[in-house]
Amino acid sequence: MPDTDKKRMVTITINKNQYQAEEGENLLLVALRLKIDIPHLCYEKSLDSYGSCRLCMVEVVTCKKTEMTPACTVKVYNGLEILTDTPEIIKHRNILFELYLAEAPKSDIIKEMASKYGVTKTRFLKKIVHDDPLLGKCILCGLCVRVCNEIMGTCAINFINRGPFTVINTPFYEHNPDCAGCKACANVCPTKAIVFEDVRQERIMRSWSDTIVPLVTCSSCKKPFAPEKLMKKVQASLDPQIIEDIKDMCPECRRKYFTRREIRRVSIQ
Ligand code: SF4
Ligand code: FES
Repeated sequence: MPDTDKKRMVTITINKNQYQAEEGENLLLVALRLKIDIPHLCYEKSLDSYGSCRLCMVEVVTCKKTEMTPACTVKVYNGLEILTDTPEIIKHRNILFELYLAEAPKSDIIKEMASKYGVTKTRFLKKIVHDDPLLGKCILCGLCVRVCNEIMGTCAINFINRGPFTVINTPFYEHNPDCAGCKACANVCPTKAIVFEDVRQERIMRSWSDTIVPLVTCSSCKKPFAPEKLMKKVQASLDPQIIEDIKDMCPECRRKYFTRREIRRVSIQ
């Protein structure tokens, strides 16, 4: 590796202990790597840190003063000093857990996480909506909206309403033909709130106003396997040299195709 590509190692202090880290590394990731416990919900490596859940708060010490900051938004620099478990942080974290227990009363992920830090009850009014398409599990972190917008470039969902009435859904709670059914939203959701179902040749995004997305069928095994729109996008970006035979195959059949071809090649030699 050329010298210019090498990252500079810096010294940081966490809870009065010194550690080495690469300059510019994400502080939350450094702490987790060092097995220093910091609860977190909204960090997603494919997106810029946004600091929306506020659970990963740490105190950054500068000139003997401290300032609370979400660890996931801090880039490590030489001399950085932080504290992760002061009484202020614990108080802040406990109140947040209580708020999340009220906001997402059906989320086992939140319940388990809160109870790990000793919070099992909430003093806040629980938000129970019986026909909530996000099953009472959404903490409004916005990751699903951001991945749909910033990574997939689809913008099929967004925040709707304000204050305590805020929810995530499609515009006007209507079936959204822009949705590609890619499930990126469900994959990044920290509380597993997003529901979808594959029924025969269709994917139904239950949480997004029952938006229906047609699935393509594998040219080999004939099973539906991927949303039509997504396949079109993927195929448009494929190398034109790609073998015609495999372009409409599901991943499993494609794997088998290559294995068989390799076996044939080796047997002929
Ligand atoms: S559905 Fe999941 S990803 Fe989307 S805002 Fe709610 S908790 Fe976050
Ligand atoms: S993980 Fe840092 S604010 Fe949510």
